[in-house]
Amino acid sequence: MFPDLRVGIIGTGFVGRVHAAAARSLGAELVGVAASTPERAAVAARELGAGRGFRAAEELVGDPRVDVVHVCTPNDLHFGLSELALSAGKHVVCEKPLSTSVAEAAALLQSAGRSGLVAAVPFVYRFHPTVREARERVRSGETGPVTVIHGSYLQDWLLGVGETSWRVSAQRGGASRAFADIGSHWCDLAEWITGHRIVELVSTVQVTVAERPLPAGTTFETAGRSVSRRPVDTEDVACLLFHTDRGAVGSLTVSQVSAGRKNRLWIEVDGAEGSVAFDQENSEYLWLGTRSANTILMRDQAVLSAPARAYATMPGGHAQGYQDCFSAFVRDVYTSIARREIVDGLPTFLDGLRAARITDAVVDSARKGSWIEVSA
Ligand SMILES: NC(=O)c1ccc[n+]([C@@H]2O[C@H](COP(=O)([O-])OP(=O)(O)OC[C@H]3O[C@@H](n4cnc5c(N)ncnc54)[C@H](O)[C@@H]3O)[C@@H](O)[C@H]2O)c1
Repeated sequence: MFPDLRVGIIGTGFVGRVHAAAARSLGAELVGVAASTPERAAVAARELGAGRGFRAAEELVGDPRVDVVHVCTPNDLHFGLSELALSAGKHVVCEKPLSTSVAEAAALLQSAGRSGLVAAVPFVYRFHPTVREARERVRSGETGPVTVIHGSYLQDWLLGVGETSWRVSAQRGGASRAFADIGSHWCDLAEWITGHRIVELVSTVQVTVAERPLPAGTTFETAGRSVSRRPVDTEDVACLLFHTDRGAVGSLTVSQVSAGRKNRLWIEVDGAEGSVAFDQENSEYLWLGTRSANTILMRDQAVLSAPARAYATMPGGHAQGYQDCFSAFVRDVYTSIARREIVDGLPTFLDGLRAARITDAVVDSARKGSWIEVSA
């Protein structure tokens, strides 16, 4: 589909590989990859079918053969690498969180605006057809005006005292961990599905595991591979209440220490006439509630509305999942580049800045123990 688009990927851990698979599935040319060392880049290039391993991220960004740079590194590198790529005239896909501070996220949005380049952030859960369907049911008025938005985003991969990641350190990951890492996805969906904006919130956070080992590998690989331990300075759990600009109330629980929950982003939107609920661990289904009857809609071309059907790439019953969301997201990024116009619904640096503002409010509220306004 995009044989003329030349792609470079920085960071070849968990999500860098998902980006690489998406880029290749779309027929783009994977010019090369950069990792934390030249040796790792060379190995990853072979494994991912990339043209070459670059010695460093800066070399990849400076290569005139690269049109679009995917930044898939730990969070503390997002700002510098995205700035560098934009100033080199490259389109950028930068992983969330766009940066570890609001000021840097705002600066990146400005740089992207000045450049006229496509600058996107993978809030990929928007790309489940069932999420598109939920949005359509709200937008069409079927649920009536939204009154309550509630849910949770739960994982268990950091439940054990031996489990760790670079994310645990505020220096690498930012002041917020669980919320910035996964709660930001939930808030993006809440606002995108409903069209409401969170205007104020109150939060509380908890560090459940006080000390963890120093990280010694990529995400999901680090347990038991390190002996030194250090105090944890980012939250395992965040709970919040919020109000929206259009009069709805909401609540959210975010946790990376909830046994049995692997990647359970669950969101329910309740309106005056009906409700919709989405569960990422059962993403092929959408729950629809009314006073008289509840329905479980199974993803299938025959029952989806047109905006959702456009993202159903497999026939019903042939399960779509996380990688498909990523491929659909990357397809919309590359289409935006080709058309020189942002495809509707593509999460951009504007959405990355929005997430940074909400994250900042969550951290601030937890510190102060009071309600905080979320800036627009
Ligand atoms: N959108 C999503 O659904 C999603 C999912 C997972 C992760 N993420 C985000 O993606 C980013 C990476 O997360 P991950 O889980 O893949 O982490 P990871 O630890 O698995 O991978 C990080 C990679 O970055 C590399 N790296 C470190 N320093 C580097 C440098 N200076 N130059 C080049 N490469 C370098 C590491 O070698 C590693 O391969 C994070 O910001 C995370 O929040 C997003």
